[in-house]
Amino acid sequence: MTAESIKEALKQVKYPGYSRDIVSFGLVKDISAENGAVAVVIELTGGNAEIAQQIKTESEQAIRQVPEANHVYVNVKAPEASGARSAAPSNASAPGTNPDKVPGIKKVVAVASGKGGVGKSTVSANLACALTQLGGKIGLLDCDIYGPSIPLMMGVKERPGLSPNEKLVPLENHGVKLMSMGFLLEDDQPVIWRGPMIMKTIQQFITSVEWGDLDVLLVDLPPGTGDAQLSLCQTVPLDGGVVVTTPQEASLGVVRKGINMFRKVNVPILGIVENMSYFTSPQGERIEIFGNGGGREEAARQDTAFLGEVPIFQEIREGGDEGIPVVAKAPETAPAQAFLETAKTVQAELAKQG
Ligand SMILES: Nc1ncnc2c1ncn2[C@@H]1O[C@H](COP(=O)(O)OP(=O)(O)O)[C@@H](O)[C@H]1O
Ligand SMILES: [Mg+2]
Repeated sequence: MTAESIKEALKQVKYPGYSRDIVSFGLVKDISAENGAVAVVIELTGGNAEIAQQIKTESEQAIRQVPEANHVYVNVKAPEASGARSAAPSNASAPGTNPDKVPGIKKVVAVASGKGGVGKSTVSANLACALTQLGGKIGLLDCDIYGPSIPLMMGVKERPGLSPNEKLVPLENHGVKLMSMGFLLEDDQPVIWRGPMIMKTIQQFITSVEWGDLDVLLVDLPPGTGDAQLSLCQTVPLDGGVVVTTPQEASLGVVRKGINMFRKVNVPILGIVENMSYFTSPQGERIEIFGNGGGREEAARQDTAFLGEVPIFQEIREGGDEGIPVVAKAPETAPAQAFLETAKTVQAELAKQG
């Protein structure tokens, strides 16, 4: 399977109402084909949502005929994309523009961090469980293509199935609906497939999941604030951003990068969560091994909310390793309460948006 063989296959797809095919019209802008995965970008210059949808469907069918084309993503960009869920908005790359909302989902909230290892995924998983316990219908989308750890932390081992209308059915555990980019990756797939190819199709991925009605969809972003994260923030229709930091990171100013990333793409910042804030000694003493108050001070400096602090607890790490986040396992305990308090503040910040 090569880009050339994919292009050949796409020559079967006629532009609706014409005898000419989409390749000869010059509409096929990009083809990546690697390790069984195919990503195609088609750019329409006119037409409407139905035409975009028809081209997408027929292109996918044509590509699936090619041997070894196991994962097929077709991104049809159309100038009048309103109503065409399949068509990525043509303004997706322009800062400050919002992609279309996903029907049925009230709020999409991204969780970001300046660096890996600050507990972003741990916070995402526990916040999802906490928001569920507070009565919400919650989804959790793991977009960390470099290290998708949410399924493990949430105790989900199986892979998602397809609904009769060919949508991915999210898995569910601890009351949270869950989908991970990791489900779509084979373990031996190289990072190149995890990187740019997947970025191109991520919005398509989000809208091809049968989420049903959700109050909040939490999105665990890849760690860092580079181009990949930025482009994710632009393609996903975000209503808010949460930045997770540790006290020492906050004092080093790393958290500011996360804030600035959301600002660049006009995503409202809900606030900062400080994780691994302090350690509680067996005697109940508060030991601030990483310094103190960095997150709260930075939130004030950045004129954003401080959403909460989560101490270091062995139970938090164990919960993640076992696939039962501490909030689901022992909601009445201190580690769980820290997340539940944080979740309440997140809810309050979202409520301010109306
Ligand atoms: N508050 C905490 N207390 C104890 N361990 C934690 C805490 N937060 C995260 N961890 C542990 O730290 C490690 C990194 O967390 P993770 O959520 O995977 O970070 P990230 O997603 O930012 O890379 C994991 O082993 C996790 O269990
Ligand atoms: Mg992570």
